[in-house]
Amino acid sequence: MIILGIESSCDECSAAVVLDGKEILSNTILSQVRDHREFYGVVPELASRLHTEVIRGVVDTALAEAGIAYQELDGIAVTNRPGLSGSLLVGLNFAKGLAAALDIPFVGIDHIRAHLYAPHLEADISYPYLGLLVSGGHTVIALVSSIDAIEVLGTTIDDAIGEAFDKIAKYYRFGYPGGVAVDTLALTGDPDAYNFPKPKLKNIYRKYDVSYSGLKTAVINQADKFRVKADAVAADLAASFQKLAVSIIIEVLEEALADTGMQRLVVGGGVAANTRLRSELGSAAQRNDVELFIPSRLLCTDNGAMIAGLGYHLLKRGDYAKYSETVTARVDAFKSPVWKKGG
Ligand code: KG4
Ligand code: ZN
Repeated sequence: MIILGIESSCDECSAAVVLDGKEILSNTILSQVRDHREFYGVVPELASRLHTEVIRGVVDTALAEAGIAYQELDGIAVTNRPGLSGSLLVGLNFAKGLAAALDIPFVGIDHIRAHLYAPHLEADISYPYLGLLVSGGHTVIALVSSIDAIEVLGTTIDDAIGEAFDKIAKYYRFGYPGGVAVDTLALTGDPDAYNFPKPKLKNIYRKYDVSYSGLKTAVINQADKFRVKADAVAADLAASFQKLAVSIIIEVLEEALADTGMQRLVVGGGVAANTRLRSELGSAAQRNDVELFIPSRLLCTDNGAMIAGLGYHLLKRGDYAKYSETVTARVDAFKSPVWKKGG
């Protein structure tokens, strides 16, 4: 089956053509990074307007690069949750229009599940496995038994790991996107320059829950207090924060690996592009004697290929969306039950 995947949940407008959930024929990604850079963050209204302007061209390009005619498509998969509502609607409505015109089925895809599917595009991975999803809005550790069976073992109870990277970068004007800016700065910094406190969670949370809000606040507001070297600079700040941010997730992952006895660790999401996280995951996999699957950097961040890949499996079994399908900004299953934003 030839599936068109459309992704517009945040600041990347992407379309991809994927064969049988595996072979990427094209993966066109139009990033809005330049448009949001001056604001050091994604401006939702701007994002949805930009998606509206470019989506037709992005889809046309994806088909042209794949060498596929519209009439050859068997179905369309489109991200419809979670994300920015206005941006999601652009992709969903485009997909509906195209599906109607071509008289083919379409399906709404959960972006978080698609991130966990991304490694499957590059390797044959058997279930079950321990899944780690690290992105701008989510931090999830889960037991994954099939495409449908994702048992959440832990999440962040406050900020997502990527959010901490982004907010610190925004505060110190390190650059945008924040994760990439911190990652790059950290390459030349001393990870031991600052001794930020490791968050301690009380027992009321799930065993594998993590927290990034305290670390973020310490880095932003109290850098001076935790300084151990007098001449620390931006690169040192970035490296010290990144070291602790990564070690927080590695620690709970190793616990979860030991407790569940999983033999495979599968990682997805934008933060999985992080240099230190990739290397620490490699070491953790070796220590625990498990197989590690991390996608190439391009498939870590938002892309249409992971949407088409997961969509193939749903469409193949007849999971078609109705034309009344809509978008959902937040998916509770991947959020902490003890945390409500603004609450
Ligand atoms: O998966 P993604 O593209 O979008 C969401 O679903 O949120 O992830 C975006 C997040 C942002 O927080 C961004 O700063 C972070 O991934 N990110 C990184 C790196 N590249 C992207 N964080 C750390 N190091 C990186 N190299
Ligand atoms: Zn994403």
